[in-house]
Amino acid sequence: METMKLSTYISEADIQKKVKDLGQTLSQKLKGRDVVAICVLKGSFVFFSDLIRSMDMDLQVEFFGVSSYQGTTSSGEVKVTLDLTHPIEGKDVILVEDIVDTGLTMNYLKNALLSRMPRSLTTVALLEKPEALKVPCELDYVGFKIPNDFVVGYGLDYQGHYRNLPYIAQVQNFN
Ligand code: IMP
Repeated sequence: METMKLSTYISEADIQKKVKDLGQTLSQKLKGRDVVAICVLKGSFVFFSDLIRSMDMDLQVEFFGVSSYQGTTSSGEVKVTLDLTHPIEGKDVILVEDIVDTGLTMNYLKNALLSRMPRSLTTVALLEKPEALKVPCELDYVGFKIPNDFVVGYGLDYQGHYRNLPYIAQVQNFN
């Protein structure tokens, strides 16, 4: 892949502060409950691992693999690539997404999880692009609302690259 020019969009310090706040809020809400935090692969894995470590409570983790993206525009199709390994019936579930763009993936995930009868479902996304929503998508917690820009880093990729950046960046030289 050609080298892309990146500019900082949200700094590592700002992300870490926001993630700590979200973790504390979630702990206050769910402490003492039978919690399963679900990491949506692949994009959420960095956010997820920081978020659960900022939560002052015991919980279990699960991974749900979906793929919905080719290049920089959403196809609207959601393909399940990895299912949960345990039932979530009766559990207090936290669904952790990296970014809500059109809202199609989050809506799909919410419906898929609610059909498995959890006791409660709390949705968290690090980023949301309100201008890009194609379907109504209510979220319980959002880290940052951003304009309709394509961003990478902190788990988010462009063609599989840049997931390991510790901050969120915008790619400057898209064709
Ligand atoms: P949605 O279904 O359109 O809301 O798309 C959600 C998925 O698209 C996210 O989980 C990301 O994997 C991907 N995505 C959306 N916007 C971006 C972006 O700006 N950068 C990288 N991936 C994105």
